[in-house]
Amino acid sequence: MKILMVCLGNICRSPLAEGILEQKAGEAGLSWEIDSAGTNGYHIGEAPHRLSQKVAGLHGIDISQQRARAFTAVDFDRYDRIYAMAEDVIAGMRRIAGRKFDARKTGLILDESNPGSHLDVPDPWYGPESGYREVFDLLDRACTAIVEKYGGRDLSVS
Ligand code: 4NP
Repeated sequence: MKILMVCLGNICRSPLAEGILEQKAGEAGLSWEIDSAGTNGYHIGEAPHRLSQKVAGLHGIDISQQRARAFTAVDFDRYDRIYAMAEDVIAGMRRIAGRKFDARKTGLILDESNPGSHLDVPDPWYGPESGYREVFDLLDRACTAIVEKYGGRDLSVS
């Protein structure tokens, strides 16, 4: 399985999603390839936000080595599943990918933990640490659901 997590800046939400899923997949013995990207280019090359790093660290997850990169159309060739943190992120992915946009590979990540809810992961960018903690808890549940759903099969050869 190759899974890409996508948000706007690739510094707050999707780096947490990448780190959480990497930890859970590793614990489950799955050799998944997991990455993250952003639909706006404002923070390319930057490490995750210090509060994302802090909240991940409180759960024993080190995301300090991640660096923000831009989402590209080619990501639809490279990944089996692409999880957007919010509806506005999917709009950005459509704009960037053009004809390469693949709705079958794309989903809102919280639809994994709350099927059919179409909920956004709230953007913690302007707020306090509590917002990052809330994001962590939402993504933790979603990543558990992803491992349960796909842990037994390998989409890349199906
Ligand atoms: P993220 O949060 O999409 O979760 O990484 C944001 C970070 C930066 C900006 C927006 C959202 N920004 O506009 O700079």
